[in-house]
Amino acid sequence: MDKLVCVPDFEKEAHKLLDNNSLQYYKSGADDEITLQENKNAFKRWLIKPRMLRDVSNRTTKTMVLGKPVAFPLGLSPTAMQRLAHPNGECANAQAAASMGTIFILSTIATSSIEEVAGAAPNGRKWYQLYVYKDRSLSLSMIQRAEKCGFEAIVLTVDAPYFGKRRSNIRDAFKLPPNLRLANFQESSKHSDAMSGKIGSAFAYHDTLLDQSLTWKDVKWLKSVTKLPIIVKGIMTSEDAELACSFGVAGVFVSNHGARQIDTVNPTIDVLPEIVKQVKGRCEIYLDGGVTTGGDVFKAIALGANMVFAGRPFLWGLTVGGEAGAQKILQIFKDELDLMMALTGVSSMSELTSDFVTKDWKSHL
Ligand code: FNR
Repeated sequence: MDKLVCVPDFEKEAHKLLDNNSLQYYKSGADDEITLQENKNAFKRWLIKPRMLRDVSNRTTKTMVLGKPVAFPLGLSPTAMQRLAHPNGECANAQAAASMGTIFILSTIATSSIEEVAGAAPNGRKWYQLYVYKDRSLSLSMIQRAEKCGFEAIVLTVDAPYFGKRRSNIRDAFKLPPNLRLANFQESSKHSDAMSGKIGSAFAYHDTLLDQSLTWKDVKWLKSVTKLPIIVKGIMTSEDAELACSFGVAGVFVSNHGARQIDTVNPTIDVLPEIVKQVKGRCEIYLDGGVTTGGDVFKAIALGANMVFAGRPFLWGLTVGGEAGAQKILQIFKDELDLMMALTGVSSMSELTSDFVTKDWKSHL
């Protein structure tokens, strides 16, 4: 791994190592994959405005998220089925996050269970991503298990009433391999067989469980069944950010699901400023989508995010080196962010404001 010095290096290496079934599942976006590319391009259209002679000899990347410290503001977005990348899957990523002092978000459709992840990283900060099912007792039991296992927040994903059209997954008929299972369903005798890779249709079966009738009133329901803070993930407009605030969420998570749902939806970094403006500090704001450098993290924080997350980079890290690979990805993000701070005259996250970025409308990207 010594020669891999940036996230794209890991991505290239992981592409060589992964089987086609897993690679296509991880890398694909919706339809023509325009937003998949634009999520990344949009970061490069925001340019840095550095300040000089500001004594950068003492810096810290530390910040507070939901009232507790993180070593730096880049965490792991929930991505499904991490054991496709490495036998330790979610457990390895959670351990990497814990050892680096940041947050790991566990997907509902993980290949390691809530209990396994809690056991692997008991002292790390962990949030649980929730899909709400027609069978509310199933969702409720997951929430209660997450609470019992010390997860600190529920991340309600609101952008996936159905899954987007990812062409390669249809062409190649993506299948969960027989040795894997959607581990969070093992507690439920009704669903556990269907969620095993031995049957092969776990993913399709999962779709049939999702509650497509979800509305904002279900956020109220969620708040009534748990004391954990609620974060809504998948917000892309100021109107929805306003609704989220009015329903009393702890965090608005600006995300387009890594461009896997709606193609030609805006890149996330471009909608962040209007959402920050609308929220006016009423709750925290997080962002993911196309974040591949510490400079990207810098820009999102400058534009008002409290914390930034990345999905695919940790699938590449996990593929290449398990826990050590994920840890190296985190170290790369942290070092790049710290260097960007040093070179731009920023010593702490609180100093990093929108004065440090500008939009270059002439860019060809
Ligand atoms: C995801 N994402 C996702 N989101 C979620 O809420 N629950 C999930 O189970 C998944 N699963 C998933 C699988 C894979 C393979 C990917 C790539 C993404 C979306 C994820 O949380 C995040 O929003 C994006 O991955 C962020 O974009 P980048 O960092 O991958 O560009």
